This record gives sequence, C-alpha cells and structure tokens, in this order.
Amino acid sequence: MSGEQLTVGVLGAGRVGTAVGRQAVRAGHTVKIATSRPAEENRLLTEVVVPGATAADPQDFADADLVIVAVPLNKHRSIDASALQGKVVVDAMNYWVGVDGFLAEFDGTRSTSEVVGELLGDVRLVKTLNHIGYGELEVEAKPAGAEDRRALGVASDDAAAKALVSGFVDSLGFDVVDAGELAAGRAFENGSEIFTGRHTAAQMREVLERDTARV
Ligand SMILES: NC(=O)c1ccc[n+]([C@@H]2O[C@H](COP(=O)([O-])OP(=O)(O)OC[C@H]3O[C@@H](n4cnc5c(N)ncnc54)[C@H](OP(=O)(O)O)[C@@H]3O)[C@@H](O)[C@H]2O)c1
Repeated sequence: MSGEQLTVGVLGAGRVGTAVGRQAVRAGHTVKIATSRPAEENRLLTEVVVPGATAADPQDFADADLVIVAVPLNKHRSIDASALQGKVVVDAMNYWVGVDGFLAEFDGTRSTSEVVGELLGDVRLVKTLNHIGYGELEVEAKPAGAEDRRALGVASDDAAAKALVSGFVDSLGFDVVDAGELAAGRAFENGSEIFTGRHTAAQMREVLERDTARV
C-alpha cells in the first residue's frame, strides 16, 4: 500500500498493538513496539509476532512521527507519558466497565479521548483504531479505491495531527472519515452504532449526520 513512510511507535504489544504493528510493517512503515517491560524482554515476542518491527523502550519513540497507545485503559496511570510529550498520539483504547472496572474519571460526560488527552499531558491526540477488532484489522484491509472498503473514523482537535493519522490509517487499508473534534469521538466509543458495526465511508458519514441531527 502506498503513502508517506512513517516511523511509528506502538505502546502495548497485546492483541491490538501487534495487529496494528504487523499491518504497519506491511505498509512499509518503520515500527517500534514497547510495553511496560524493558525492550530486552519483548525482543523475541516482537521478532516472532511482528516480524520486521523492533522491540523498544518508550524513550525510543523520540523520532516517531506518531505513537499508538494500545494498552488497557485501566493501566493508563502506569503509561510513561514523558515519552509522548509533544507527539502525535493515537488513542486506540476503549472504556469497558466489565474489563477495566469502574473508572470514575471516564464515567462523566466527556469523551474518553478528551480525558485520555488530559491525563497524557502535552500530546496531539487523535482517536481512531478503537472501533475495529484486532482480528479484523488484517483481514478487512483493502487497497484504496477497492469496492466496499471499510472505513474508520478519526477525531481530533489538531487538524495537522488528524491529517497525518488519516494518511496512516489509509495506508493500513481503510478509508477515513473525519468525525470532527476529539469530543465527537464519542460517536465511535464502545457501544455506539459505529463501534458495533462495519461501515463504508458513505455509511459512516450517514450515521454521523444522523447523530448530529438528533442533538
Ligand atoms: N482487542 C481488540 O480487538 C481491541 C480493538 C480495538 C481497541 N482495543 C482497545 O485497545 C486497548 C488494548 O487492548 P488489547 O486487547 O490489545 O489488550 P491486551 O491484549 O491485554 O494487551 C495490552 C498490552 O498493553 C501492555 N501494557 C500494559 N500496561 C502498559 C503500560 N503502562 N505501558 C506500556 N504497555 C503496557 C501489555 O504488556 P505488559 O503488561 O507486558 O506491559 C500488553 O502488551 C484496550 O483499551 C482495548 O479496549 C481493543
């Protein structure tokens, strides 16, 4: 797949982190994967599960064009946010009470990504990749222009960050629908119509327009 070649940091080597990592390697990006453990402990796992990617420590994200955060939301306090300051950061996380337990900070009226952005500090946050199953990421990817290509929504308060991440998502094999500001990311949070379904770009725009008309 074509597009700008990026250096991509992935925080979290679980289901989503490794699937995004593999797909990003296929797209020609340079991929570094880190967890809460030292890089040395992730070297073998990375070689086997995400061939072509490098096991890293969060500090190695210094030269990353963007960093994807794919850790369970209830671990957010243990994230090394210092490595993310000033960066374009993709929030791929979801709040699941059944999985994460009750998290008071995520139970208010704001979108989960607005809260994540505040907790992470000076980051250029973009919400996307949270509303596709890890098992679908590789099998549903299609080249640009393909019939029935699946779309993913992006939401951010930072237009340049959103444009960069949109190009990245396209390179992974998906159309991109701009949902607007970070607050609008609520439209594809856990439990929403977009979260639970599969949409082309036209179908997703229809859902977003319907939601807006209802407000
Ligand atoms: N599963 C899906 O299909 C899917 C799809 C879209 C979005 N999501 C969302 O993505 C997030 C991750 O889900 P998952 O299913 O990939 O979880 P997972 O399989 O449990 O993997 C979590 C990963 O995060 C790492 N981690 C934990 N704490 C960390 C920290 N402080 N710093 C860096 N890495 C840390 C873990 O490694 P260590 O414990 O070794 O650090 C592990 O590699 C969740 O919020 C989920 O809702 C999931």
